[in-house]
Amino acid sequence: MITCPRHRETALTTERIDRVVNGMIETGRLRCPTCATEYPISDGILDLLGQQWPGSIAQLVNVLPPAAWAYERTWRPLALSMLSGEEFPLERELALITELAGVDRGGLMIDVGCSNGLYARALAQARRRSGADGLVVGIDLSMAMLQEARQRARREGLRISFIRASAQALPFAANSASVLAMGGSLNEIGDIPAALAEWRRLLAPHGRGVMMSLVAAGNPPGRIFQQLLGTGGLQFPTVDELNQYFANAGLRLRAQWQYGIVVFSVVQ
Ligand SMILES: C[S@@+](CC[C@H](N)C(=O)[O-])C[C@H]1O[C@@H](n2cnc3c(N)ncnc32)[C@H](O)[C@@H]1O
Repeated sequence: MITCPRHRETALTTERIDRVVNGMIETGRLRCPTCATEYPISDGILDLLGQQWPGSIAQLVNVLPPAAWAYERTWRPLALSMLSGEEFPLERELALITELAGVDRGGLMIDVGCSNGLYARALAQARRRSGADGLVVGIDLSMAMLQEARQRARREGLRISFIRASAQALPFAANSASVLAMGGSLNEIGDIPAALAEWRRLLAPHGRGVMMSLVAAGNPPGRIFQQLLGTGGLQFPTVDELNQYFANAGLRLRAQWQYGIVVFSVVQ
């Protein structure tokens, strides 16, 4: 059930279906029965944000098609090895994320700030292998990122729904998610307390939140570099600050691992 981003407990209804591919709406419109707002679906992507502009330089960069094209082709495979200071290929990261998420429980699994859909695809593959039921959804502000994500999912034959929405207004009802995943997006998401409040609202009683995020560097050059990135809207909390954000949102920290400035957290 997808809900209205303004009335988060009101399910959107189908207003029009123009084209369906593999049982998924490719082109059409959904509508909120409470506020009558209509939301378009085109190229299989539901757009809940319309003309909304990115709030920071970091978010603006991710809206640009060249950034979306390059993201998983260039930066992403190297990212954790460079940031953790040890050999950290994507296979290791994705195995960790899917294991921590416990995908065999099925249900609604959401990759928040999904970019090219890396975690969403890993969750969908793991779900398929386990034979569990469920729906995988990728959420991002950037239409260019979502278009790239959708192409990648289709090439791999994976059923993933992609929605252009804000992490601070997730279009799902309370207690609906069995898995919330986030890879590196907390650092550029903007309002962290509001985004984590959405995790608290959405996580089902036995749901799990799995997050990879970057924390403040321990050495002066790293801190200076992060301060520079901060002018573009990136945030690098210390581990204590990160855990305080979780606690303030009412999320319980179940496990945490740190590799360099890369931190994996499991919350409930
Ligand atoms: C660091 S990238 C995420 C990488 C991706 N999760 C991965 O593991 O490959 C951050 C993404 O978050 C998205 N984003 C930033 N702020 C957001 C917000 N408030 N709501 C939803 N998406 C957001 C950006 O468009 C960008 O695609």
